Amino acid sequence: MKVRDFLLERYFAKYEFTVKYLLSPSDCESMGAEELLQGSGPDILELWKGLRLSYTESRGHPMLREAIAGLSGTVPEENLVLNPEEGIFLTMNVLLDGNDHVIVLSPAYQSLYEIPKSLGCEVTRWYLKKEKGAWKLDIPFLEGALKENTRLVIVNFPHNPTGFLPTEDELSKVIEITSKRGIFLFSDEMYRGLEHDPEKRLPSVPSLYRKSAALGGLSKTYGLPGLRVGWITSTDSWLLDRIASLKDYTTICSSAPSEILAIAALRRGEELAERSRSIVRENLALARRFFLERKDRFEWFEPQGGSTAFPRLLGNQHVKDFCEKAVTEKSVMILPDTVFDVDWNHFRIGVGRENFSEALGKLAEFIG
Ligand SMILES: Cc1ncc(COP(=O)(O)O)c(C=O)c1O
Repeated sequence: MKVRDFLLERYFAKYEFTVKYLLSPSDCESMGAEELLQGSGPDILELWKGLRLSYTESRGHPMLREAIAGLSGTVPEENLVLNPEEGIFLTMNVLLDGNDHVIVLSPAYQSLYEIPKSLGCEVTRWYLKKEKGAWKLDIPFLEGALKENTRLVIVNFPHNPTGFLPTEDELSKVIEITSKRGIFLFSDEMYRGLEHDPEKRLPSVPSLYRKSAALGGLSKTYGLPGLRVGWITSTDSWLLDRIASLKDYTTICSSAPSEILAIAALRRGEELAERSRSIVRENLALARRFFLERKDRFEWFEPQGGSTAFPRLLGNQHVKDFCEKAVTEKSVMILPDTVFDVDWNHFRIGVGRENFSEALGKLAEFIG
């Protein structure tokens, strides 16, 4: 398989474990395995103590699938446990072939368009619009971009990197457009539960539209990326069967300890999500103030969900140069928009970590 480097992941690989201040991660503050287990109840502790390091059920531990069903408004038969990134890889491989056209909401996490491209698909990037300091969905663009062979539309709400979240009406419109033509909808919901106003949480797409699949996981909202646990939900049993078969060629099944820790996490799901939301709320207030106080240097775009924001660097300096200087001079890592394959002079900041204010302070020092 020929696939281009994953620009964001390569950037992280270079700096994530060497710099002092990460100002760009998209995951929320993590916790220790012991702390996670202690709060999850005696039955989960028993499961953990009795854990055998054998192969696990390919579609996931029944208790985990039950918990996922509760989160997504589906039943356990309508989900399958895998590694989140693997969920994108396998679903695209099942759904697409080289004659297909795919429309991807953009900027986007690279695998959402790179895997379709590597399969030979024609990919149309459907960019969010900027309007008065906010991100907007360009519905007319989507309608105009459809082709005879459009097989798949890919969305991601809350959106990485902008933090954009559509209204329920806007999501309904996207579903109406895809359903009229029988087009499949892939909904990346890795940041679901991190809506800044929980009232604005959208229903998971498979509960609204049959020809769809959603990706969820524990990495962002629940702050547990090291578990490598995610899931695909869909009411299309053919799709889940095909993904399960293809998974035999990637990981076969999930890691046994991770599954038990994932069950523990979802037992405390709402508590963990609220912990992340409260860190995000606090950090976002700092970020907003920081960038609005420096209007001569930055343009601020208010996110409505997720754990990232995507402000713009003003002036003549290229954002790539700005980010490179920040990392070499102050050991602060910020992600330039070029790793999202756009060149708009924006950069991503991550607001989910407890040391955010310290890292922001370093950025202030760097700017001078
Ligand atoms: C939108 C989106 N989808 C999927 C993933 C993959 O999640 P993971 O890194 O846990 O595999 C990420 C990770 O950053 C993401 O931002």
